[in-house]
Amino acid sequence: MMPPNHANTTTIVIFGASGDLTSRKLVPALYNLLRKGRLPARCNIVGYARRPYSDEEFRALMREAVEKSVGLNEQWAEFESCLWYMRGDLDTPEDYAALHARLREIEGEPANRLYYLATAPNYYAPIVERLDAEGMHEEEDGWRRIVIEKPFGYDLGSARSLNDAVHKTFQESQIYRIDHYLGKETVQNILYFRFANAIFEPLWNRNYVDNVQITVAEQVDVEHRGGYYDQAGVLRDMFQNHLLQLLTLTAMEPPPSFDADKLRDEKVKVLAALRPIAGADILRAQYDGYRQAPGVDPASRTPTYAMLRLFIDNWRWQGVPFYLRSGKALKAKASEIVIEFRRPPHVMFNLDSVNISRPNALSLCIQPDEGIHLAFETKVPDGARALKPVDLEFHYRDEFTGTALPEAYERLLMDAMLGDAALFTRSDEIEMAWINIDTIHMHLNASDAPPMLTYPRGSWGPGEADRYLARDGRAWRMGCIHDEQR
Ligand code: BG6
Repeated sequence: MMPPNHANTTTIVIFGASGDLTSRKLVPALYNLLRKGRLPARCNIVGYARRPYSDEEFRALMREAVEKSVGLNEQWAEFESCLWYMRGDLDTPEDYAALHARLREIEGEPANRLYYLATAPNYYAPIVERLDAEGMHEEEDGWRRIVIEKPFGYDLGSARSLNDAVHKTFQESQIYRIDHYLGKETVQNILYFRFANAIFEPLWNRNYVDNVQITVAEQVDVEHRGGYYDQAGVLRDMFQNHLLQLLTLTAMEPPPSFDADKLRDEKVKVLAALRPIAGADILRAQYDGYRQAPGVDPASRTPTYAMLRLFIDNWRWQGVPFYLRSGKALKAKASEIVIEFRRPPHVMFNLDSVNISRPNALSLCIQPDEGIHLAFETKVPDGARALKPVDLEFHYRDEFTGTALPEAYERLLMDAMLGDAALFTRSDEIEMAWINIDTIHMHLNASDAPPMLTYPRGSWGPGEADRYLARDGRAWRMGCIHDEQR
């Protein structure tokens, strides 16, 4: 990977720098980039927030955070000299003028700037407006780009308004909407697996695929985020972004090149081809005890788990169900995509059990045990009448020993500095995703809405999700985790 443009100074301004994201993810990722020699030689990282830290206090806090997450080495001193802090309000014009003056002073020469919005979402539009008023978006002496965290909108209407507000100041090519799932190695590898190999793509369609299952299971509950989560719920928090992104990468047509717009054109086509979901194809549930969590309404109707059955109305996928599920407080952390193939048309063997037990399945293991597994049937030795499903397994940890998988934010920050938006969501993509999520919420608010189910903590969600697939003659597969975890 080429380091970003070394010709100029580059400044990363983090709005909301006293928050969790900065210390847990952004600064450790930037530190790792420096360690790998991938930060521009002259780089400034300027934290901006309301708390009255000095530069030294901010550096000490970041040092502690980095030590905890990725560990320190002798390069810390070099990194620390790039770190600055500026106290300011997010909506006070004079504070932006002061920030602008401070940036110029720190930079001392023409510089590129990456503005990273790590604040509460209600500040996104006001920050852009202030940057505009202060002329901080102008690209006279270097590029200006803006990274916007999720959630990008609450529904289609608010996402559109936010897009409109940001477009008043920045061109689409300057806007980087983050979905950290796209920065995960294994998520990027979906495309490499599909399009850098010749043997899978011929099977990747309705003629061979019976169904696709996408599971993003989390073991954690809402923790201290009840206030945010109760407003969002699993559909806005996980499906609108992460699960739909996994779906588009799995289902899209091959783009002609790995160019940001060509890639995103294909993803948008998948979202546009999603059949409007029927109310009967949605399950929603809450884990036991969710309503007692701090910040959660004791009468909350917010789902912490959902399951959807989606269809993509195009030639490749006509009639193939895509089952998506995600939830909190589940039995294990497991994100995987299982492509389940059709059964053999005729079984000629004289077997003790009539059916082949499990159809072939290819599992793309996103996390935590990253890899790819292929399940197929094998004859049990020394007998003619039995088959056993076995797995062919590729694990990153075995194949790439000594190479730790980078944190998603490393890759995304790097790409934003390089000006490569392929792993970021475009405005039409985000709006198309919201159209689909809004349809689901419309069903959930209707008089004949699917009921709110419950599930025990530490389970795989409501039993109804198993019964739903059973009615389709199928079962959930966990292709990436071993029996004892299931
Ligand atoms: C975030 C959600 O986007 O993704 C969280 O807001 C969720 O609720 C997290 O826990 C999951 O990310 P990961 O990388 O741990 O799978």
